[in-house]
Amino acid sequence: MSIQSQSRPDITINTLAQMKRAGEKFACLTAYDYCSAHAASEAGIEVLLVGDSLGMVIQGHDSSLPVTIEDIAYHVRCAKRGNRGALLAADLPFMSYYSETASLKNAAILMREGAHMVKLEGGAWLAETTRLLTERGIPVCAHMGLTPQSINHLGGYRVQGRDPAQGQAIIDEAKVLQQAGASVILIECVPRTLGATLTNSMDVPVIGIGAGADTDGQILVWHDLLGLYPGKTAKFVKNFLEGNTAGIQGALAEYVAQVKQGKFPDAEHSYD
Ligand code: KIV
Repeated sequence: MSIQSQSRPDITINTLAQMKRAGEKFACLTAYDYCSAHAASEAGIEVLLVGDSLGMVIQGHDSSLPVTIEDIAYHVRCAKRGNRGALLAADLPFMSYYSETASLKNAAILMREGAHMVKLEGGAWLAETTRLLTERGIPVCAHMGLTPQSINHLGGYRVQGRDPAQGQAIIDEAKVLQQAGASVILIECVPRTLGATLTNSMDVPVIGIGAGADTDGQILVWHDLLGLYPGKTAKFVKNFLEGNTAGIQGALAEYVAQVKQGKFPDAEHSYD
């Protein structure tokens, strides 16, 4: 139990694994500061992510590439103070895990600031890094599918894994990362069927964003959930504040409820 929270036991990677086994869905949300972390964790969100999406929604860049390890560390410090018992994950930003030594050094910075898990973008090439981190006590979330740090290589924010061979490759590489010790897989922007097949193929929990309703958990960006981002948003984004008379707390509660009931994302917010 955290010092602050009396309402629920602290969420750990074991809690998420147990929820997957029980078929119970969990809700995740980005949080970059004290107030958003406080509100989201109090609303029952299980996982908070200090995502490198902060490069766009906090700093106003057009991608996450300019974000540094110092930026993430600062926002982990802020979010940690507001968190009430959620698992606090943090992104290793672009080029902060270019080598195994850099991965260990930078992951240690985020863990010392209060993160409980680090997230890295990529596939099987991250197996050795994942092994090194987990063996040294740092839980890893492997982010696959659309990986925004590789946006220039991917050629745009496009649905991934539509081609059956590409979809199978994602599943195969996720299994390699699970074998290497990854505690969670996050899959972004893939057809709903692939999200479902991946989730059923994995022992570890799978969090989806734009991957359909069948993943074990769902994640959204705070600013998207509240309709705050002025730029173009993806099909999977839903504004939970719109029309909600209970304000931000109401929007958060509605998001948690819809995720847990498997109602979000619906067909309108998923890819066929
Ligand atoms: O950086 C981020 O916020 C993310 C989520 C969109 C999954 O990676």
